[in-house]
Amino acid sequence: MKLEDKSYAHYNIVMPKKSSAQIRNEFFEFFEEKEHLIVDSAPVVPKDDPTLLFTNAGMNQFKPIFLGEEDGLNEKGKLWKRAANTQRCIRVSGKHNDLEEVGHDTYHHTLFEMLGNWSFGDYFKEEAIEWAWELLVERWGMEPDRLYATVFGGDEDEGLPVDEESIELWRSKTSISPDHILKFGKKDNFWEMGDTGPCGPCSEIHIDLRPDEERKKKPGSEIVNMDDPRVMEIWNLVFIQFNRLQDGSLEKLPAQHVDTGMGFERLCAVLQGKKSNYDSDIFEPILDKISELSGKAYGDDEEIDIAMRVIADHIRAVSFSIADGASPSNEGRGYVIRRILRRAVRYGWDRLGFDAPFMGKLVPVLAEEFKNVFPELHAQQEYVQNVVLAEERSFLNTLGQGIQLFNEMIEGADKLSGDDAFKLHDTYGFPIDLTQLMAREQGISVDVSGFNQLMDEQKKRARAAGKFTHTGGSDIQWNQITDGEFEFIGYDEVESEVEITASAVDDDENLILLNRSPFYAESGGQIADTGLLEKNGSVIKVLDVQKTLDGHVHYVDQLPEDLSGTWTAKVDVDRRWEIEKHHSATHLMHAALREKLGKHVVQKGSLVEPNRLRFDFSHFEAVSKDELEQVEERINQKIQENIPLKEERSVPIEEAKKRGAMMLFGEKYGERVRMITFDPNYSVELCGGTHVNATGKIGYFRFTHETSVAAGIRRVEAVVGKSADKTLREERKLMEDIKGLLGDQTDPAQSVQHLIDEKKALEKELKKLQHQKAAGRLDEILDQPDEVNGVKLFTGQLDGGSMDRLKQSGYDALNKSDTSSVIVLATVNEEENKVYLLAAITDDLIGKGMKAGNLVSVLGKIVGGGGGGQPNLATAGGRFPDKTNEAFETAKEWIEEQNL
Ligand code: SER
Repeated sequence: MKLEDKSYAHYNIVMPKKSSAQIRNEFFEFFEEKEHLIVDSAPVVPKDDPTLLFTNAGMNQFKPIFLGEEDGLNEKGKLWKRAANTQRCIRVSGKHNDLEEVGHDTYHHTLFEMLGNWSFGDYFKEEAIEWAWELLVERWGMEPDRLYATVFGGDEDEGLPVDEESIELWRSKTSISPDHILKFGKKDNFWEMGDTGPCGPCSEIHIDLRPDEERKKKPGSEIVNMDDPRVMEIWNLVFIQFNRLQDGSLEKLPAQHVDTGMGFERLCAVLQGKKSNYDSDIFEPILDKISELSGKAYGDDEEIDIAMRVIADHIRAVSFSIADGASPSNEGRGYVIRRILRRAVRYGWDRLGFDAPFMGKLVPVLAEEFKNVFPELHAQQEYVQNVVLAEERSFLNTLGQGIQLFNEMIEGADKLSGDDAFKLHDTYGFPIDLTQLMAREQGISVDVSGFNQLMDEQKKRARAAGKFTHTGGSDIQWNQITDGEFEFIGYDEVESEVEITASAVDDDENLILLNRSPFYAESGGQIADTGLLEKNGSVIKVLDVQKTLDGHVHYVDQLPEDLSGTWTAKVDVDRRWEIEKHHSATHLMHAALREKLGKHVVQKGSLVEPNRLRFDFSHFEAVSKDELEQVEERINQKIQENIPLKEERSVPIEEAKKRGAMMLFGEKYGERVRMITFDPNYSVELCGGTHVNATGKIGYFRFTHETSVAAGIRRVEAVVGKSADKTLREERKLMEDIKGLLGDQTDPAQSVQHLIDEKKALEKELKKLQHQKAAGRLDEILDQPDEVNGVKLFTGQLDGGSMDRLKQSGYDALNKSDTSSVIVLATVNEEENKVYLLAAITDDLIGKGMKAGNLVSVLGKIVGGGGGGQPNLATAGGRFPDKTNEAFETAKEWIEEQNL
């Protein structure tokens, strides 16, 4: 795309041409001048915040600072109270959800970049407003006359006043015209991150891009916040002062902060004089590639353009979320990714004519474009591409059938039933929003509540079948017993005095919270501890522990009446020690796999249980038996070296990086991290799990499985400790049993091979004999023809009970017989209580209009089935073997009826 450097449609001024990369850099430079630290974008998949499915704003990663839990950013040897960056954000669920609009309009996205600057209890409204104006107007030359500032108009229910201070600052610190300062209510001018979390009144900057004539007719102030793409928000300045609590109330924060966010794609469209975000240079490479792959141009036809925009947009969200550690699945975040991808695939299939995977081919284009801004994608390009391709392939398998079914379902209907929507979901993988989209295109509605009911029932069934998934927990009604902060003490203790602080019954489950707990809550792949709580003869079993919004929730078997006082918490230590062995072994294995297979091996998933470990990692081919054996040997060597554990609970992240700790892509690490080292030159990981104090305790390591889970991801399973011991004993017993069966053999493997060879030879011999026998029987049949109207009819039953053998005999019979012959053969399969029939007719009779297919369909009906085939040979199957003779008789009648 050529960036024109002359006049822009909506400014009557000349601005130098600027690429998006330049614009981004100028933003950073501007805020560096104002003493801000430029920080990296956080991953789009938040790791430590159960309130969020995806990073939805630049401020997410600073939440602990806003809440007063941290003072600022410790970097480059000082504490920073100001920061700026570009954050990749996804808004497709929860409080901020733009999915419906994406592609249909030209300025919403699933994934977008948000430029932001922050003050952590440092500057406030004055500087935020002044600088925003300086950058937009003085540096970038936007016309003041086209800009509008909205401010918070107060909210009575919340007890919040009009933001007079901001109004005054806009008037005194900028050159904006006073009638361009507009008041709006809570919906538009009170920004909240989610249902809970930091929030505050905000002031937004909107730009009016309409031509002058239109602007004269109707002032922009009447169109602000009216969803007109030509009068849109570009920058939001939030003045964070509160924390929204779970009960809905606002708590005043100890300090006041600034959180701003500017939509980068919109900004580039404006500064490049484009009408649509998709016309900026950001989307150019990807739209070009879609055009190249589909052979269709962008800009000629609105239906095609929508599809191209959807695809160009969705591939960004899908690729970055996979690069940041998520993957398509049936739950939560993974399901959102799957939905977005399927939505794009369906548009490509329907409107651009793609019937083979195409989305994966866009990944390299994106990786290249963002190499310098978000290097995570480039670094994992092949992996991301493979995951996308595999996912597309599986959806394309059912998409065509699903669409056909959908079209049948809606024929003559004005509403799609919940049953049908559920069927499309369950059998053909259509997410409900895809079904809704398709229905909307046809002008019909969908019974979503009926669908949801069926989904709920399905979930209940899954739950009853044991596939239990714990969810957040913010809705739980707790019964408060005592107050207190929570502390996890399980790294040091497995038996401790604790107090129960709250209890609840939720969905038939008994839950408690403790003031301190030695029970490990499931996380980082390590399963939760189980154990007991005891007090004066009262015993409560702890069945599971989950981290939720409410803290570490302990799932227990019962809630005795008196929960007060001090309880003794006892972790089931035998189980815990086995879990620890598997966890430490996972670290040794991770290091050994990287040593043997290469540094591209990165953990993609992990499960640590008392009797096994499971580990998913990036690698493109099966791990060979030899490689597995060598890795196994290496791990066992490390076990025998009895390397002591070095556990450090609070290492500055910078130091951990320097010491070579393995950092996972998509993982968001705090300022200080816990490091687990088994030999600084062998295994150094950031980990919150529990571990053996020296590797010798692991005992013995043994792989049990190696498979593929997705394109580019392998899965291994292994056992250590007691489970390894058990596996070995079972194998030895099996070996002994086999030896026993073979008699006193010196080399059992050789004996088994001998038996296999002998079996094969016997099977061959048996086949030959059966064939001979069938041929003999066929000859018998061919010796005894009936004459009907000058036609020779041969009928008879063969042994064997197989359709294949029957067909073979049919061809043999045709070869052996003279002209004017009709052959009808049957064979009965006793096991299945079925009869197979075959009819064959010589060519001269076919010339007279007789067809084996016709004959066999008449006979098929008699034996309770149907069939068909060629004019000279056809077959049928039926359920009534007793009627075989009747079928033979009917063949005679059939010949008699022919016009010969
Ligand atoms: N958090 C605010 C927003 O997302 C400003 O960054 O709009």
